[in-house]
Amino acid sequence: MPCLKPAQFFTILFLVFITFGCKETPPQEVPPNNTISNSYNEKHRPQFHFTPAANWMNDPNGMFYHEGKYHLFYQYFPDSTVWGPMHWGHAETKDLVHWKHLPIGLYPDSIGCIFSGGAVVDNKNTSKLGTTTNPPIIATFTHHDFVGEKAKSNDFQKQSIAYSVDGGYKWTKYNGNPVIPNTEKIKDFRDPKVVWHEASQKWVLALAAYDRVKFYSSPNLIDWEFLSDYAIKGDNRLWECPDLFPMKVEGTNEEKWVLIVSIQKEAPNDGTATSYFIGDFDGKQFKCDIKDQKWLDYGTDNYAFVTWNNIPKSDGRILGIGWMSNWQYAQIVPTEKWRSAMTMPRELKLYNVNNEFHIYSSPVKEFQKLRGKTTALDQMTVTEEKELQGPFDPTQSEFEFTVNLKNTTANSFGIKFQNDVGEYFVIRFNKSDGKMQVDRTNTNSNKFSEAFYKNIHAAPINFDKETMNIRLFMDVASSEIFINNGEVNFTNIFFPSKKFDKVALFAENGTLDISKSKIYALKSIWN
Ligand code: FRU
Repeated sequence: MPCLKPAQFFTILFLVFITFGCKETPPQEVPPNNTISNSYNEKHRPQFHFTPAANWMNDPNGMFYHEGKYHLFYQYFPDSTVWGPMHWGHAETKDLVHWKHLPIGLYPDSIGCIFSGGAVVDNKNTSKLGTTTNPPIIATFTHHDFVGEKAKSNDFQKQSIAYSVDGGYKWTKYNGNPVIPNTEKIKDFRDPKVVWHEASQKWVLALAAYDRVKFYSSPNLIDWEFLSDYAIKGDNRLWECPDLFPMKVEGTNEEKWVLIVSIQKEAPNDGTATSYFIGDFDGKQFKCDIKDQKWLDYGTDNYAFVTWNNIPKSDGRILGIGWMSNWQYAQIVPTEKWRSAMTMPRELKLYNVNNEFHIYSSPVKEFQKLRGKTTALDQMTVTEEKELQGPFDPTQSEFEFTVNLKNTTANSFGIKFQNDVGEYFVIRFNKSDGKMQVDRTNTNSNKFSEAFYKNIHAAPINFDKETMNIRLFMDVASSEIFINNGEVNFTNIFFPSKKFDKVALFAENGTLDISKSKIYALKSIWN
């Protein structure tokens, strides 16, 4: 939720509640996809990232794979471009690249509005809400009651379920909701995400409860028993949107458990960000193996990242997506018709590097199908500046560079995007301080938010290698950077007043040696 002072926040909530209420609304039709595609050319509209056709979106919710389709629900307010009483918007994709918008999945009701959560395919019909031949899909979500919140009841967030027996299109709320009441009266008690725990043959639910995650288990997704808490001693930051799942360590048979949590404060570059812990989960408790919490992305714009349920074993990937914005400014970014995009869907991999576990993430390989004309460049030695030219649009392209670090003498080098009104976006590598800096402070001369433009952001980079691989996806108003196959990621949004139409490599006080480069023009997913 937005980072406002509590008094401001509750006043806004109250006003929104009075204006829009929190009542069940009849299903409404979305425009057919071709109407949407015609209008997907507005200023700042991403061309290969998921955005709602119109209005407000935040966290990804209820993601599952079923019968050839990856479903995505999302926090959605259909009546405005700012946050309000939440619904679950709905879209699906067959290839993780092209999306079809679907009618809203879940509407507010008499218990409350629909905050974040997950969904699972109940293949064994443990809930008895479907059959084994037609398994029900169960969504777990938080019911948020604005009236209770205003009355300072402190139990205004409760966990509920809804089920679908038609593959995720029509949803029925369970008539015994809430399934996890808020008996302890915890003010921030939300975002339930469920996983099947094979060893105990039970479902396990992870829930954010202010500064910790609470785990519950259930044989049937309806009756939940509290298991344990996971917290960091002395940490009183707000935790949101947990996700718990097992992962194989690459190249081994070892299985570890990953606990993802999004954090509202003290992220690497201010604002909100997604973090993770690696450890073991014995069916009752999570035990962390790594010294410190790690960040899934060093950029400011990858929040509430969670994974898809029920990816077939034959595929075996761990796939997820994040909300490409930040509560510091999400509600005032200068898009007019809609607000927010999702990150590209990503594949996560777990590595053990020198006895330390790390998650690497990369865009799913399916994005290769968007590649159009390719510009392949031979070895290049850049002194000062080299403009990159070819049949590509600098902000609708994928760039891949292999930097020969041993032959690079410049301490500082990178890539700069600019337009002819003096606005620019720079990715800079500084060998001496071991950092990649991402500078969006001059991406628009008309600064819509202080927080957005305030600081140059940074991520740690290990320059002590022969080469460094840089993969960069530019999509109109965003950049997603993947260093060394996803070892370090950086997601950022920006809003230039005119498109960046010039891109150049640069090297300061020395040379930059690039052994291989490829630039792919990327097609729009909406055409
Ligand atoms: C995270 C979050 C969740 C909450 C939702 C409300 O961005 O604050 O904790 O369920 O947004 O829209």
